Amino acid sequence: MAGASQDRRPGPLAQGPRPVWLDTDPGFDDWLTMLMLAAHPGLRWLGISVVAGNAPLDITLANALAIRQLHRLQVPVYRGCDRPIAGTLDTAQHILGAQGLRSTGLPLPPAQALPDGDDAVAALLAALRHSPMPVTLIAIGPLTNIARALQAEPDAAARIDELVLMGGSTERGNHTPAAEFNMHADPEAADIVFRAGLRRRMFGLNLCRQVLLRQADVDQVRQWPGQPAQCLADHLDAYQRIRSANGSVPMPLYDPVVAAWLWQPALFGFQSARVDIELQGRFTRGMTVCDLRPAALPAANAELAMTADGPAVVALVLQVLQRALQA
Ligand code: BDR
Ligand code: CA
Repeated sequence: MAGASQDRRPGPLAQGPRPVWLDTDPGFDDWLTMLMLAAHPGLRWLGISVVAGNAPLDITLANALAIRQLHRLQVPVYRGCDRPIAGTLDTAQHILGAQGLRSTGLPLPPAQALPDGDDAVAALLAALRHSPMPVTLIAIGPLTNIARALQAEPDAAARIDELVLMGGSTERGNHTPAAEFNMHADPEAADIVFRAGLRRRMFGLNLCRQVLLRQADVDQVRQWPGQPAQCLADHLDAYQRIRSANGSVPMPLYDPVVAAWLWQPALFGFQSARVDIELQGRFTRGMTVCDLRPAALPAANAELAMTADGPAVVALVLQVLQRALQA
């Protein structure tokens, strides 16, 4: 395969825990990702910047705080941008529900704690500045907070080891025929981020559609003891039924693939490519135009996840979640 990459990062952690920062808009699948990061023994999780996306910011922030409380995660949470750089916010509430996630049983108990700060962009920039090692930036929502940080301090790019994102697609979209949700929600931000001088690793819909969650997987989570596990199972049940009311149609796992890569990079295959964001298209705004041709290699600006051992990734996600919920 032209440009196929052998890069197996993150690899052995010879220099100690890898500092990571999560940018997110929870979201069912963002929830799973948070748990998988918290459980990873090789990471030092510096913070969470919340962004508007799956739902308006007040809701995604409340969800992030509620997830943190339910699972007693030790990580600061910051309030980020409440709207895209241009245009108005277009959420996924019509699919995910008014709260950006929903349950077929137990609701997510609301958090008592407030966010640790109201300026996620400043908090991210401070974390990058103070980290002794370059930070791995994990983005699983619209890229508004990250673009705003790079606009405010372009030099901050040098302190990012790699931006690892769920978003875009080498093939068809989901929010529109051409565009994936996170990219469509803020195309200008995506454009800034894809043109910035940093290393990028993109997990798009083409990859996530190889990683399928089935009702049998939800049934497995339901067997785990404890109220947090039941609450998660009830939400996963609702997520799994997005494509079919009776759960017969498998549902792709989106955001957790990024965390799965941090756990087991060998489950994924990558290809270097040139990615540009369509800003003008009448039918294609927010599309990630991925040039995988050999001729595009000299201008490559991302490592695209192209292949995954889907059943192994789902098994890994469940294994990590089970361990996290038993801790
Ligand atoms: C992405 O959109 C959101 O709904 C999910 O959380 C994921 O980040 C998938 O297109
Ligand atoms: Ca998300």
